[in-house]
Amino acid sequence: YKGDDWAGAGVAELDEALGGWLSQLRARGDITGQAHEVLIFPTFENVPARFVAVVGLGERAELDVHGVRLAAGRLLRKASAYKLQSLGSSLFGSDLPGISKEALAQAFVEGAALATYRFAGYAQATRRSEAAMHTTSSFAASDVSGEDQKTEGNMKQLWLATAADAGVAEGITRGLVCAEAVHLARDWVNTPGNLLTPAAWCEQVATLAAAEGLKLTVLERADMERLRMGALLAVSQGSDQPPKLMVLQYQGKPSRQDVLAFVGKGVTFDAGGISIKPAANMDEMKMDMAGGAAALAAVWAISRLKLPVNVMAVVPCCENLPSGQALKPGDVITALTGQTIEVLNTDAEGRLILADAVAYAKQLGATHLVDIATLTGAVVVALGKVTTAALTNDERFLQELQAAAAASGEKVWPLPTFAEYREQLRSDIADMKNVGGRPAGTITAGLLIGAFVGDTPWIHLDIAGTAWTEKAGPMGPKGATGVMVRTLVELARRWQGGRAS
Ligand code: BES
Ligand code: MN
Ligand code: ZN
Repeated sequence: YKGDDWAGAGVAELDEALGGWLSQLRARGDITGQAHEVLIFPTFENVPARFVAVVGLGERAELDVHGVRLAAGRLLRKASAYKLQSLGSSLFGSDLPGISKEALAQAFVEGAALATYRFAGYAQATRRSEAAMHTTSSFAASDVSGEDQKTEGNMKQLWLATAADAGVAEGITRGLVCAEAVHLARDWVNTPGNLLTPAAWCEQVATLAAAEGLKLTVLERADMERLRMGALLAVSQGSDQPPKLMVLQYQGKPSRQDVLAFVGKGVTFDAGGISIKPAANMDEMKMDMAGGAAALAAVWAISRLKLPVNVMAVVPCCENLPSGQALKPGDVITALTGQTIEVLNTDAEGRLILADAVAYAKQLGATHLVDIATLTGAVVVALGKVTTAALTNDERFLQELQAAAAASGEKVWPLPTFAEYREQLRSDIADMKNVGGRPAGTITAGLLIGAFVGDTPWIHLDIAGTAWTEKAGPMGPKGATGVMVRTLVELARRWQGGRAS
């Protein structure tokens, strides 16, 4: 801790074995204890470890669970740079006021695992023989192949020194499962559009579902035509890749009536369609399926944790490309519900496919909807790359999600849904148009989806600013972040059916 005592147990004994070096460095101000500080010293074999790492936790009174998560992430990043392979923590020997051992263990494991994520990539010299996918945690034995890989993650063992404690064991499991789900989502989002087509993605999810015993249903174009999913079909029609709609279902408590649906945008590449995007950075639009990835990965984790809830991921997948068949500005389309939409900009495609997907989730029995999408550039203007925007028609539902986000260390903030904003979507010739102009672009985009949920409790999450990062941080490298996976899992873990908990 900063200006206070050591947090771990056994530090005095360690200090003594090291000839009092730790306390001397502290007295001289070389060790300060401030958050962000990670120092790694050689022990010169005076203790049975080659290095000792000192991690700053900041002010004792200010430390919360996320502070532990971040500290573990910073520690593991530094340890990876030192190519350390095995690491033990004494943090669990001491009590951190207000933080349960369970939450502490989960946060520590999450921070450690998220920090060491690497996307394997496709360079010939470093490519793995089996596949380019890297869906295991960096600690997994499968990561230890001996060949020189383009990854820094050498960490193979993490030891948490603690008395036998069921809470700690549960926290570790939950942390590992959540981190692996985030890794899975990141892998999908980092995968280029030519390799993660809707069909290729479905195949991967089918493999995962079979291994986990989850029910996966995939709608093909003919099914969408039969169901009259006019909005998803319209966006898909410019691409040669057939559209798919995945439904991944987990029934953790069939006797319950409530069903949570995570409806995720799955545009595997968004060129904008006929309203084509500028060339600069268009490659980044391979990440336009991050909402779908989060929805699927969350259901996978919820199933692995055997949570007593019923959840489904509903993911409409397609490409948004210009072609002779493509949807055109001015076209009027009819969605699954029969509502008509005048498409004035084909680049506002996410809200269209989600309009059909939320309506379909309701047909499948969803009683609570969370849609999650890289929906608008406007959200970056409003909230930057820090915070996920939320809209809702049910304040209590959103409060539950915000509590889950806070526990997960993910930032979510509400935007208003006043009726005046809906006027911006008024069309002269259809029930609505798909764009509401520049003002409040994130709100009008979300409200278009909201026009298809009826009275069902609903939250919309716009992750266009948070799903991808240009700079590496304590929670992972640049690229896909896997944002909201852990929040959705935590929401399900706390889920009481939308009634008071
Ligand atoms: N996928 C984009 C939004 C996006 C922007 C995601 C930046 C990630 C980073 C979405 O389909 C889109 O193109 N939105 C348009 C809407 C506009 C035409 C009303 C936008 O934000 O420019
Ligand atoms: Mn678009
Ligand atoms: Zn898009």
